[in-house]
Amino acid sequence: MSNTHNWVVLKFGGTSVKSLADWRVISKRISEVKAAGKRVFVVHSAVATISDLLDALVSAAVAGDGEAELDAIKTRHLELAAELGVDGETLLAPYFEELTRLRAGLSLTGDASPRLKARIMAQGELMATTLGQAWLASEGVASRWLDARDHLSAIPAPGARGYLACDCVHDQDDALLAELDGGPDVIITQGFIARREDGDTALLGRGGSDTSGAYFAAKLGAERIEIWTDVPGFFSADPRLTGAARQIRSLAYEEAHELASMGAGVLHPRAIPPVRAAGIEMQVLCTHKPELSGTTISATPSEDTPRMKAVSVKKGVRLITLETDGMWRASGFLAEAFEPFARHGVSIDLVSTSETSVTVSLDDDPGLTPDVVAALEDDLSKIARVTLIENCAAVSMVGRGVRALLAQLGPAMEAFAHYPVRLVSQAANDLNLTVVVDGDQGQPLCRRLHDQLIQPKPMDKTFGPSWREIGENLTGSQPAGTGTWWREKRQALLDLCPVDGATYVYDLDTVRTRASSVAGLKHLDRGWYAMKANGHPDMIRTAVEAGLGVECVSINEVKAAQKAVPDLTVDRILFTPNFAPKAEYAEALEMGVHVTLDGLHPLRAWPEIFKGRKITLRINPQRPEGHHKHVRTAGPEAKFGLHAAELDEAKALAAQAGAIINGLHVHSGSGISDPDHWRRVGLFLVETARSMPDVEILDLGGGLSVDEASGVRRIDMAALDAVLGDLKTAHPQYQFWIEPGRYISAESGVLLARVTQLKHTPDARFVGINTGMNSLIRPALYGARHEIVNLTRLDDDPAYIADIVGPICETADRLGAQRLMPDTKEGDVILIANGGAYGRVMSSSYNMREPAGEATL
Ligand code: LLP
Repeated sequence: MSNTHNWVVLKFGGTSVKSLADWRVISKRISEVKAAGKRVFVVHSAVATISDLLDALVSAAVAGDGEAELDAIKTRHLELAAELGVDGETLLAPYFEELTRLRAGLSLTGDASPRLKARIMAQGELMATTLGQAWLASEGVASRWLDARDHLSAIPAPGARGYLACDCVHDQDDALLAELDGGPDVIITQGFIARREDGDTALLGRGGSDTSGAYFAAKLGAERIEIWTDVPGFFSADPRLTGAARQIRSLAYEEAHELASMGAGVLHPRAIPPVRAAGIEMQVLCTHKPELSGTTISATPSEDTPRMKAVSVKKGVRLITLETDGMWRASGFLAEAFEPFARHGVSIDLVSTSETSVTVSLDDDPGLTPDVVAALEDDLSKIARVTLIENCAAVSMVGRGVRALLAQLGPAMEAFAHYPVRLVSQAANDLNLTVVVDGDQGQPLCRRLHDQLIQPKPMDKTFGPSWREIGENLTGSQPAGTGTWWREKRQALLDLCPVDGATYVYDLDTVRTRASSVAGLKHLDRGWYAMKANGHPDMIRTAVEAGLGVECVSINEVKAAQKAVPDLTVDRILFTPNFAPKAEYAEALEMGVHVTLDGLHPLRAWPEIFKGRKITLRINPQRPEGHHKHVRTAGPEAKFGLHAAELDEAKALAAQAGAIINGLHVHSGSGISDPDHWRRVGLFLVETARSMPDVEILDLGGGLSVDEASGVRRIDMAALDAVLGDLKTAHPQYQFWIEPGRYISAESGVLLARVTQLKHTPDARFVGINTGMNSLIRPALYGARHEIVNLTRLDDDPAYIADIVGPICETADRLGAQRLMPDTKEGDVILIANGGAYGRVMSSSYNMREPAGEATL
């Protein structure tokens, strides 16, 4: 006879029981758990969409109808029964009868009492479990069907908001254990439903099945509960906000509770306390990707040092500030201030106090109507000056021991330069640090903090792969590289990869498309290709043919541009150096190309070379932008550009030298996706140009973003054109220029390399390739994320998670951390995407290893 302490509870949601394929996953999991010597207690929901249909049935029946809804419910179940090959008509007849009866009753009374509604809704779970049990039996899996209501009692939730599972059942339920003893090793029961004290059915509300599972786990003293759902666990951010959101492998109970309460829809927060009290491990797994390990929730997560686990954002937050001089050293003010909140039934989320003021935040609650807010404000204004700020966003950084993590925030604090903070609050439970900002800034700030704070480490026990990696595999419809040119041209690329070397390959069609979309901007006067991103002659030629000029940072780049395009006129070359020697300026001016100065030294020390020349001045707008601190080229510490305070002197020096300042320029960073950035820069330059009558050209710089594995999205060119249109309409006297590099070249290039060795230690896996940071330094230098695939086995299923490393003698020689890879072999071709910009041009021969070569398609 089985002992009573080896139960494993498996809870499946509605999307996990809707098809034969889903039931195969369930049956496989049941066998695996049984094979490990455990007994299996399955709790599951109604088939996906059925609860909505039942809900609709209730409303329609009250109005005297509901036939269509009832038919739809029957049909859906009979279809599933047919797919499962079980006799739906017979199995479901009692439930169909009950539904027909209840519908008639509702039509008659015209009123849906919670009691009747609960009875109707419960049929969804009862029918689904009945079909499931019959299918398992047909597969030879003997199980016992249990009516959950006989074992789970419910109590009314406070405020008459439905029912809660009875919270007095943290302890084992000996009666249940005794009843199951000696019976089959598989039990099937329903989530979401329980029994009221009066014997009627109660519904446990949203997320009720998770709660049922957790309570049954506690009652059984289960070894583990597995929550099977449609995503593989918790993520470090909402994946809809950033594809770079990482799967979280392990969480402490309190962290999971915090994340679930903040709205991580994967698990209902009410499911945590029962398992936590009983010390039962919980796993959140994905039915559609059962091989992914999901999130494990326990008292001691596998990595025990505190770590920032997630960044979340909550919209629709209101802030209320109460100011009064009477508060200083006065007792009882807070009690007095909070009393009206209680009276109006308004719950406070965050609080911060000072000697003379208190600020509180209120969550977006549907009950908080404008009338309630106005009445509250009225009462509060009797005791203090009240300021109400609507539409704020609360961004929370979540992790156990957040206080100890403040040091990690160092670099991330920079983000707040752009997002004025209205309130900071460190949760008393030490699980989150929350800042409140203006509503529209919540999501960008969340993304930025996520980028900076959630950095997976090699052999990471806390973070798994990103949503982008898993998500694309999850749906099945989005295999790696969908929509990219390199998937289409896979065979040509495989042929191009040397057997014993590595190469960059640039797709000139892609370069042409991107360059044309810049040259084709309706409201742009001139576009320039910043060739520092990629100086391959074909790249320059293609950009020029599309209609762009060339922006160069050194005299050698100027010469390379002329060599690549022999008939390139000097008017189509822009020379924008930084701390270059005098000779380069002299040569460029002599040639007649456009020259930009970004300091006073050239005018002060070498005025003679500027006589009679037109020059552009690069200004530092003091507001840095960009994907990494190393590519933010503006701000007080940047070495680029003139400070506004130096402009008068620059004008005087230019006049003395006999030079004409006919252009102003700003480039404040790289990888910027917000089109409004160029509006701000444009308006800043217009403002600066007011006192400079000769200025005709306003060069807004480069920095246009591309789609990146980090979640950054390609800039919306139509939106950028609209911004340029606004600028041009308001200030038609100026020419507006831009000078992107990455946008033209990044996506056109891939780095191909061969697998040299594979390594699998007890802690980690490595896929080694024959080139590394000597060819692509961006991951080591900026933590840049490039998509990496095994091109040889592009359509194989992922088999494991590995770090992709090169042969260079540096720990930072890691091109990708924690990537999902198929079963990879020596000699396979690995493709690293988005390598067309700042790849080959930044390479070196470190370790006497020649960097990857170059080829075009
Ligand atoms: N104009 C000026 C004056 C620049 O300094 C730059 C880039 C550009 C235009 C072109 O920026 P883009 O559109 O490519 O973002 N190595 C870094 C990027 C450094 C950018 C340096 N300046 C990376 O790999 O991300």
